[in-house]
Amino acid sequence: MPVTVNGITHQAEPRPGQCLRTFLRELGWFGVKKGCDAGDCGACTVHLDGLPVHSCVTPAFRAEGREVTTIEGLAGPDGPHPMQRRFLEAQGFQCGFCTPGMVLTAVSLNQAQLQDLATAMKGNLCRCTGYRAIADAIGGIQHVERDESLAAFGRSAPAPAGPAVVTGKARYTLDIASQAGLLHLKLLRSPHAHARIVSVDTAAALGVPGVHSVLTPTDSPARLFSTARHENPLDDPDDTRVLDPVVRFIGQRVAAVLADSEAAAEAGCRALRVEYEILPAVFDPEAAMQPGAPLLHGDKGPDARIHDPSRNLVAEVQMSCGDPDGGLAAADHRHTATYTTQRLQHAALETHAAIGWLDEAGGLNLRSSTQTPFLTRRALCDLFGLPLERVRVLCERVGGGFGGKQEMLTEDIVALAVLRTGRPVRLEFTRQEQFIGAPSRHPMRVTVTLGARRDGTLTAIDLRVVSNAGAYGNHSGGVLHHGCGECIGVYRCPNKRVAGYAVYTNTLPSGAFRGYGLSQTVFAVESAMDELARALHLDPFELRRRNVIGPDQEMHDDVQMGSYGLTQCLDLVEAALRRGDDAPPDGSWRIGQGMALAMIHTAPPRGHFAQARIVPHPGGGYELTVGTAEFGNGTTTVHAQIAAAVLGTSPAAIRIRQSDTALIGHDTGAFGSTGSVV
Ligand code: FES
Repeated sequence: MPVTVNGITHQAEPRPGQCLRTFLRELGWFGVKKGCDAGDCGACTVHLDGLPVHSCVTPAFRAEGREVTTIEGLAGPDGPHPMQRRFLEAQGFQCGFCTPGMVLTAVSLNQAQLQDLATAMKGNLCRCTGYRAIADAIGGIQHVERDESLAAFGRSAPAPAGPAVVTGKARYTLDIASQAGLLHLKLLRSPHAHARIVSVDTAAALGVPGVHSVLTPTDSPARLFSTARHENPLDDPDDTRVLDPVVRFIGQRVAAVLADSEAAAEAGCRALRVEYEILPAVFDPEAAMQPGAPLLHGDKGPDARIHDPSRNLVAEVQMSCGDPDGGLAAADHRHTATYTTQRLQHAALETHAAIGWLDEAGGLNLRSSTQTPFLTRRALCDLFGLPLERVRVLCERVGGGFGGKQEMLTEDIVALAVLRTGRPVRLEFTRQEQFIGAPSRHPMRVTVTLGARRDGTLTAIDLRVVSNAGAYGNHSGGVLHHGCGECIGVYRCPNKRVAGYAVYTNTLPSGAFRGYGLSQTVFAVESAMDELARALHLDPFELRRRNVIGPDQEMHDDVQMGSYGLTQCLDLVEAALRRGDDAPPDGSWRIGQGMALAMIHTAPPRGHFAQARIVPHPGGGYELTVGTAEFGNGTTTVHAQIAAAVLGTSPAAIRIRQSDTALIGHDTGAFGSTGSVV
């Protein structure tokens, strides 16, 4: 059928049932993104005869004989469309994965719709920006200064990738042309919370037209590893296999089907016959610690570095200083409460994905949506016994991370499939798989006991933290340690005690997520502080002022204060709240306001390491090579600023190559808010 896309007429036949999104991407229009494939997020927005549609829920045949405009076709002869310029001037993006859809919807709004932007844009979701920068862009508010001759620091520098992001030229993980012989990988996931896989009958699946092969636990390397990525791999327990003969949560991988198309691979998964031996399961971390509870990793030895497999304990923290019981006894008022936090998904708009292939020299290449290309390469080498120089991991631009991509969730199974078949292999999580197969934030139950004198001076802080690690221990130790220490490190109290437990349960594994445990424990401690303030008839600001650590006081064994702005910070926030800066102008909403105090100690205990190289570029300026991945974190902007400042030039003179293990020696990764510092 003829379809005109951005003024170019294609003659192409959609497959039966094919949606417009995949049809356009197969024609090479990669500005059309996938966020949900359910018509919810708007990342796939295109114009059909000038009107925006979600192409993931639009049948491809409806485009026959009609004009389709994708983000690549929005610019005119004079350059980018005014709306694309506005997004640049307001920097109305971070990772930019939602930006093509945002821009295409924004250009279609009429004056009435512009008056109610929240309603008009409700079909386009952004995970990164909080929408303020997007609203500013649509409203024509500028946030960056265009004059590139200005100093590198002390101003709002634009993201170097901005022009590519707003015009749809930025390339994300799967934005590459299909390779010859490409196989699509789909995962069969467990319907049981705890079961032993007795057998997998692949005969019917292998009979599905287009299915090439099936990988089952018998194909998996026996080696245990952790999906978590840290500079020191010993930080996390080795409790995971590529395909484990025991499944420990609903959604765990059981088998992988490789086929010529995604549809055939899915049909192959449906045709697999699996016999399970159901095992007892435990879902609550308190119950999982009790004697007699089903053990998730009772089969693991000391090499797995699990704190106590006989109690389902991934990690335990017991810390105290002073005399906590004495401090509580001496208090005029004691306050105890328990706070629970829920499971949360990172919901990066780009789902987890990877494409792997062998190059002519037999080297394994993986293009992946990752925050840690170098650590992922090292893990793959360990897992498959390959030398470092035989494995390359790269990512061009990543569509959001938030800690969720500090994991190896696709690369191991794709690597296994490439090594087995010798063919290129592609795996892309569906949005549903993000929720059932990718780690979430650790749900926690935190009991806080505070003792205080009548004037609010704290005499004791006592914390009990129970963290639900889920079925595997990735990140659970680090999250527990960060969460337990820093949430009370900011308070000057002589008597403190923390007992923390990260506990295996037959639920989705938890993992790294912005704040790394602190969000949960800070919520609990600060809520308890507010409740204490109320009981003592003290202003919450005053209670903090009486107890926060001072500029000359020791905070933590390995933390030294370089500067101290806590007093000013409290003053500024209090003044803003008293002014009512955030009160709705028309009184249409009833809103609550409050304050909370938090610190994060972002330098991981065993360090981050990175190499960088800068050389004159033959075309002028300089070429800076770094390993850090860019997923909206802004490190590329800062790297250009740092280089420009040192060389006495403007950031625009710095071209950056990044996040490719073939380009530079090492980079620990972009996580823990350390990308710029490293
Ligand atoms: Fe909107 Fe990342 S910038 S999802």
